[in-house]
This record gives sequence, structure tokens and C-alpha cells, in this order.
Amino acid sequence: MSDHTGATSTNAPPPGCPAHASAVQLGGLEYQQTPSQLYRTMRREHGSVAPVLLDGDIPAWLVLGYPEVCYVTSHDELFARDSRRWNQWPNIPPDWPLMPFVGHQPSVLFTEAQEHQRRAGVITQALEGVDQFELARECQAIAEQLISSFAGSGQAELMSTYAHVLPARAVLWMCGVPQGRADTEKLVDDLRISLDAGEGDDPVAAYMRVGARIAELVKEKRENPGPDVTSRMLLDPAGLTDEEIVQDLISVIAAAQQPTANWICNTLRLLLTDERFAVNVSGGRVSVGDALNEVLWLDTPTQNFIGRWAVRDTQLGGRLIREGDCLVLGLAAANTDPQIWPESHVGAENSAHLSFSNGEHRCPYPAPLLADVMARTAVETLLERLPDLVLAVETEKLTWRPSIWMRGLTSLPVQFTPAVQ
Ligand code: HEM
Repeated sequence: MSDHTGATSTNAPPPGCPAHASAVQLGGLEYQQTPSQLYRTMRREHGSVAPVLLDGDIPAWLVLGYPEVCYVTSHDELFARDSRRWNQWPNIPPDWPLMPFVGHQPSVLFTEAQEHQRRAGVITQALEGVDQFELARECQAIAEQLISSFAGSGQAELMSTYAHVLPARAVLWMCGVPQGRADTEKLVDDLRISLDAGEGDDPVAAYMRVGARIAELVKEKRENPGPDVTSRMLLDPAGLTDEEIVQDLISVIAAAQQPTANWICNTLRLLLTDERFAVNVSGGRVSVGDALNEVLWLDTPTQNFIGRWAVRDTQLGGRLIREGDCLVLGLAAANTDPQIWPESHVGAENSAHLSFSNGEHRCPYPAPLLADVMARTAVETLLERLPDLVLAVETEKLTWRPSIWMRGLTSLPVQFTPAVQ
């Protein structure tokens, strides 16, 4: 294990230093296709904490080691979440592409210490009230409905017609948004645009509409509470204001939708392309649960997470980290850290991966359980309804999206025997 308390530093200068020529540009083709190889190379060349350049050559640190990610995420007093601590703000243009992830918002995501405990505590108790059996039933109903819309045609593009829509509808259902209404469908669509804009979409306008609809929802539930996440947040003795609840609900919905959608799609890809699963995909000898867990180890949705900001000068992995430096959590790299898996055998049989992060700001319990219910139900229902489902293209034709942050496919075209409706 490397020395966190940092007796020795390598000779690397801190980010921002002009001599810092060896920093790795965090982007490019390799991230889309074979990120694991790239992380291995980076680890070999730079150790467990690598100097990197974000969009626009903004310097940061990528934390690649499993012990180092655990250390950073469990020492909030050294590595905090409020992005206003960043020493690079003078160099960041207002239209910087990563602004939606690092620009400070008054939500749970950027709070620290007691304020974070207050906000995250409200979310946790509200999510704890979700009945997992009821959620599974609801996800199954959503799945059946979506499958019915394409089952008769014998083909589908699962990313847009299934994997993205199902968790969006399910999380809105959890929050008490009425199902089956035109304005709810509009909200599902706006969520997709704001989180993952396509060509011709206006993500800022969509985000504003999502905000306005959630504000309306909070008002409705204040007047007429029900058995849902929104009402439980409103009734919590912590007494959050409506504005705080709107912010935190948007965070919950956004945090749930994208990673769960990609978890579903990456699992379907594994089941449809890997021969260990292919033979048994409908027979069920190799379980969907195994595939879901393996994806969290090897193709985790949240590959890298931005981030944490150093509270003061400190050492990490032999590097000198300056006050205000940004650290990107390399969750995917940490999951395959050879220090943890020296034989390159990654343990699908346990769940000690860092895909839901770690520490105070980790994906709040019980969100990972709810995500598991959504993803498992989505995959199982699809395989039950369309048992001869196969890819409609060669495996090599499947492409990963050009993102270092979220690992997911651009599309997942499949074919199957058309179902008689
Ligand atoms: C029901 C589904 C989900 C919900 C409601 C949810 C909710 C949240 C929330 C509210 C946060 C912010 C926590 C905080 O700052 O205190 C968070 C963080 C996070 N979530 Fe989730 N999430 C869901 C699914 C997932 C999935 C499927 C993944 C990945 C496989 C994931 C990975 C993460 C990660 C990596 C973080 C960042 C934690 C950090 O800052 O260290 N989440 N989630």
C-alpha cells in the first residue's frame, strides 16, 4: 500500500505548474474502448495518483489506487466536496463543458460536514421508505409496457427505448410523480435531454423545465402528501426548506437515472456477448445477478467522479497535493487495482468494489439496493419476455460513448422473434 501520510514525494510538480509536462490528457479514444488498459499504463507510469489535464488543459489529480480512493473518500477533513475550494476557478471559462458537474449548486452534493449529514440524512430516510417489492412490481409493469411497444417488430434499440426510460420512470414513480400522464412523459424526456443531450437538443432549457416541474411537485406534495420520497422529505423533522428539497430531489433523480440506465445496458451487453452467459441467457444457469455484479467491477457506469477538493496542502500516494487542488475519484481504475487483484482476477463474487464510492458522500444507503431492484427487474423481465434475444450487429460494432465519466454504449441494437401481441 502506498504511503498516504506521504513521507516521500515523487519529483512531480503540482498541477498548474508549467513544468508539469507529463500530465495525462484525460480523454480520447482509448477511454471509450479500453479504459482498463489505459488505467494500467497510467498506474505504471505515474503511480496511484496521476497528474491529469481535464478539458481545456485544466490540471487535476486522478486517484487510481483502491486504497487511495478509500483514503480520500473517508477523510472529508482533507478532501472536501465544496467545489468553491478549487484553486483553478480563475482559469475556468463560464461555458466549460464540465461546469454542470463542478459548478457549485446549493444541493446535498456540495454540502460538507454537519450540513451534509442533515441533507443526506433526509434523503436516506426518504429512500428507506421505498418498499422494494412494490418497486420491483412497478419496474416490471414499466418494463412490460416498454417491451410491448417494440415486441411485435422483432427488433429494438434498447438503449433509448428501454434502458434509459425504465429507471427514469421508476425514480419519478418513487418520488410521487403520477404515472401515465403526458406531462410525466415530457418530464422523462426532459430528464434525458438535460443529462444526455443529443444533437439539436437544448439541455439548459430542458434542465430548467425539470426544475420547474419538480418545484411544482414539491408544492403539490406540501399540500397533499402521499407515500412517496418527496412527501417523506417534506415531513422529515430536519425541516428542510422547499428550495432545499427541490435541489436535493433533482440530485436524487439525476444521480439515479444515468448510472442505473448504463448499469442495465452494460449488463445486457455482457449477457449478450460473453459466451459464459450466452448459452444460458434464458436458461438462467449463470445468473443475472452475477452479470450485474461483474459489470460493477469491470464496466462500472460511474467510471470517474469529479470530485473532491483539497482542504489544505497534504500528501497522497507520494504526491504533494496543494490546497484547492481537484481530485477525480478513479472508481473504475480502483476496482481493477492490481494491488487488490494481483492475479488480475477480479472478484465478481463479492461486492467490495467502489462503484458506489465510499465514505460520507458515497451513494446513500439504500440507493444501491433500489438501483439493484431496478436493474435486475429490467434485465430479467426483458429476457423472460424475449427469450431468443440476440445482438443485431457484430459485437465489435458496439461502440462506447465518448465519455471518461459515464461508461455506456451509444446504442444496443437487438433482434428476436416478433412476439404476437
Ligand atoms: C436508485 C438509484 C440511485 C439513487 C437514488 C442514487 C442517489 C445518489 C445520491 C443522492 C448521491 C449523492 C450523495 C452525496 O453527495 O451525499 C449519489 C452519489 C453517487 N452515486 Fe448514486 N444513486 C443511485 C444509483 C447509483 C448507481 C446505479 C451508481 C453506480 C453504479 C451510483 C453511483 C454513485 C456514485 C459514484 C456517487 C458519488 C459518491 C461520491 O461523491 O463519493 N448511484 N447517488
